[in-house]
Amino acid sequence: SDQLYNFFIFYLKHIISVSVLELIVHGPSGPLVAPLGSSVVLPCYVDELLLMEGLEVEWRRTDSETLVHLYQDGESRAESQQQDYHDRAHFFTDQIQHGNFSLRLDNLSAQDKGVYRGMVPSQQDFGEIVVEIKDVERFLVSGSSRSISASVGEDVTLNCSVDSHITPEHIEEVSWKKTDEDKDSLVLLYQNNQTLSDSSDERYRDRAEFFTAEIPKGNFSLRLKSVRTEDKGVYTCQVFAGGLSAYATAELVQLGFSFSHIMVLILCISASGSALLLCCLIYCRSHNEVADVCSFIFC
Ligand SMILES: *[C@@H]1O[C@H](CO)[C@@H](O)[C@H](O)[C@H]1NC(C)=O
Ligand SMILES: *[C@@H]1O[C@H](CO)[C@@H](O)[C@H](O)[C@H]1NC(C)=O
Ligand SMILES: *[C@@H]1O[C@H](CO)[C@@H](O)[C@H](O)[C@H]1NC(C)=O
Ligand SMILES: *[C@@H]1O[C@H](CO)[C@@H](O)[C@H](O)[C@H]1NC(C)=O
Repeated sequence: SDQLYNFFIFYLKHIISVSVLELIVHGPSGPLVAPLGSSVVLPCYVDELLLMEGLEVEWRRTDSETLVHLYQDGESRAESQQQDYHDRAHFFTDQIQHGNFSLRLDNLSAQDKGVYRGMVPSQQDFGEIVVEIKDVERFLVSGSSRSISASVGEDVTLNCSVDSHITPEHIEEVSWKKTDEDKDSLVLLYQNNQTLSDSSDERYRDRAEFFTAEIPKGNFSLRLKSVRTEDKGVYTCQVFAGGLSAYATAELVQLGFSFSHIMVLILCISASGSALLLCCLIYCRSHNEVADVCSFIFC
């Protein structure tokens, strides 16, 4: 009789599901791809008008069953949303009455890649749609297009800028490193909205800085002050945002002495030469008998 009961239940469920699963929900024509930091709409709509009373719409991730967003009793239920989607997932509330249950997901990050299920379990019907966010596109970081020449003691700027569609809030970390054969040295670090100058390698402490006013534009160019001969080499600017990373390089070459250095050097030599002559002259004056010889040397 147990078997008979199970058989009966099975058929009953089947009959129910056939009669209930009649709501046709439309979704996108294929998987979605969107750039990091952008907003994406997960389309979901029905052709027929549903009763608003008791209408419930639920979006979940299929992998974790995480609740992305819920519409219940005539409003969005932000309190039941998983924390990570708070303020990031939105229904088009004014569209719901027209059977449009699309969900907008803002500030897209790599973790948002995955499969989402939209469910419409209303009083009369039940329908669902599966939408995949197949890829979150990487961002680009551009560096210096050519190598940079500088002279000892000069200040240089090494370019590094992040794609314009990445908002500054998205940028988790920017690190400038100098690549040497044996190890990488940290030149400058930016993390969670702050420049952490203290973590720089001591060779670069107090000599490396960002252009603070340029950071909101995604410009993380490095200002390296009073360069030294050992600063010559390849620098890497690595950016971490939304769980993705990208980098660019800049090369500092030909560290010579600058014109001003050479001028200073000439001045030093001539100054010490003059001083020597002056000393000689004073010496000669106090020893009159050799004055003639001195004047001769002086000439
Ligand atoms: C649903 O609403 C959104 C926002 O207004 C709109 O972009 C989208 O085209 C709508 N979808 C349908 C099928 O009407
Ligand atoms: C750095 O960027 C600026 C502005 O885009 C550009 O004018 C300059 O040529 C770049 N410098 C190098 C070395 O690529
Ligand atoms: C960084 O600063 C921006 C704007 O001041 C702010 O919106 C954001 O929440 C900050 N992020 C962190 C991680 O502090
Ligand atoms: C970044 O800012 C620096 C300093 O203002 C400027 O020299 C450089 O050209 C800027 N880079 C870009 C790509 O705008």
